[in-house]
Amino acid sequence: MGKITPQILVTFITIHKNKGATIHDQLYEQLKTGVYNGMLRSGERMPSSREMSTEFKISRNAVLQVFEQLTIEGFFEAKTGAGTFISKNVDKFSWSKSKTTAPEQKPERFTARPYGLNDAFKGHVSSLELIHPFQASVPLISEFPFQTWARISAAVHKKMNKLHLGYDDAQGYWPLRKALCDHLRISRSVNCDPDNMLIVNGSRQALNLIAEILLNDGDQCWMEDPGYPGATSAIKRFGGQICPVPIIDDGMDLNFASHHYPKAKLAYVTPSHQFPMGNTMALSERVKLLNWAKDHDMWIVEDDYDSEFRYNSRPIPALQGMDTNGNVIYVGNLSKVILPALRLGYMVFPTKAMARQFTIAKSVIEGQSNIINQAIINEFIRQGHFSRHIRRMRVLYKKAQDDLVNLIRLHLNNRLQPVPVEAGMHFIAWLPPGVNATIIANDALKEGLIIQTLNQYSVQFNNQNGLILGFAGFSFMEMETAILVLKRVLDKHF
Ligand SMILES: Cc1ncc(COP(=O)(O)O)c(C=O)c1O
Repeated sequence: MGKITPQILVTFITIHKNKGATIHDQLYEQLKTGVYNGMLRSGERMPSSREMSTEFKISRNAVLQVFEQLTIEGFFEAKTGAGTFISKNVDKFSWSKSKTTAPEQKPERFTARPYGLNDAFKGHVSSLELIHPFQASVPLISEFPFQTWARISAAVHKKMNKLHLGYDDAQGYWPLRKALCDHLRISRSVNCDPDNMLIVNGSRQALNLIAEILLNDGDQCWMEDPGYPGATSAIKRFGGQICPVPIIDDGMDLNFASHHYPKAKLAYVTPSHQFPMGNTMALSERVKLLNWAKDHDMWIVEDDYDSEFRYNSRPIPALQGMDTNGNVIYVGNLSKVILPALRLGYMVFPTKAMARQFTIAKSVIEGQSNIINQAIINEFIRQGHFSRHIRRMRVLYKKAQDDLVNLIRLHLNNRLQPVPVEAGMHFIAWLPPGVNATIIANDALKEGLIIQTLNQYSVQFNNQNGLILGFAGFSFMEMETAILVLKRVLDKHF
């Protein structure tokens, strides 16, 4: 079957019957202007003369005459049996292609509320973002079992009428909540009941809901520094006050936090694998944090974002599993273990009532997350592919980390000091003191490498010479090529 070009809508046209200009002239002028201002673009199909005459309540003859004139002038092309099209040549008339006739740039008329975005996060706004070495937090997409996914997806689509395809079920597809709870209980020691869980569109939505629902203007929040900008932005958006807490070997410096901000309402932590430094919060510190939260009525937001990928030791149980007082809200995502593009994550609340309250808030914004994807993931987990995929990727990522460390040692000598991690998908690599990481990262970007700096994740405590290198999302060859590019960049500086 031949390709059918969809017909364009000419809603910008208005015909005034009792106006000075004739109907012919009004239609002619407006269509021509439509071409000039880019409303009508090369290759698009016009409505038929019959449809135009019905829509604008004008004679078909008038429409035919205008079409004919515009065809003679080269704006339109008539194709027998197919209709009238905007000519291929119009691009040269259209202002969107022509610098000389482009309209003046006007200043923006709106003032956006500040969203607290820092530079590290602005990259996520790009619509053309591609994955380049050494982008952090991206999985090795080429190793995703697409065939299996397609098979499960086809089966789910065949039985789609069994799903809840209306607006309800904002808490998330119950079988998926059950499957995720089982997974979290077994692999992360999370205390989980499907009724306490809410499926969300990624961790960032979870963090925004938390800030929106729990924070009042000026509420103090302990924030890991350096830390995840998704959390800082969410807290700032809803009026919370960021209280930066330095990271020490044992995790967040709790002495500092309790001394400087004793009235904090919430603490954001990544205890299994601190983002981005990679430290694991010591058991003693976990107990201290939980006791503080209990005594001071503080919420703990545990972002357990990539702890499935732990390499040389057994997984560290989640903080949530140790919480006996109901202070921890657990946040997890499927971006690292399945695909970031799925935009799915989950929250586990201490009580059903709290899960219900958050469900109501989510339904105000958008209702349920994509139910078809939820059903596919449920099958993916139920049939054992999820845990198989995680196990497989764990082996590949461990090797990728070793490879990257070796490549750095081989090609960059001592100019970059990698700090391999026990868990996760990136590590920190230190430049020598005095070498500015931002300058190196900016130069590397010009060569097509996406390298973030520790500074981009700092709230208050700066680390001038730390680079963040993701190792999970790339093949050995990609990493080797990229390291040689990075070598050239470093050669220019020291
Ligand atoms: C600390 C942390 N939490 C969560 C996420 C995942 O966010 P999302 O679920 O919105 O993809 C990331 C991704 O980079 C992260 O670094």
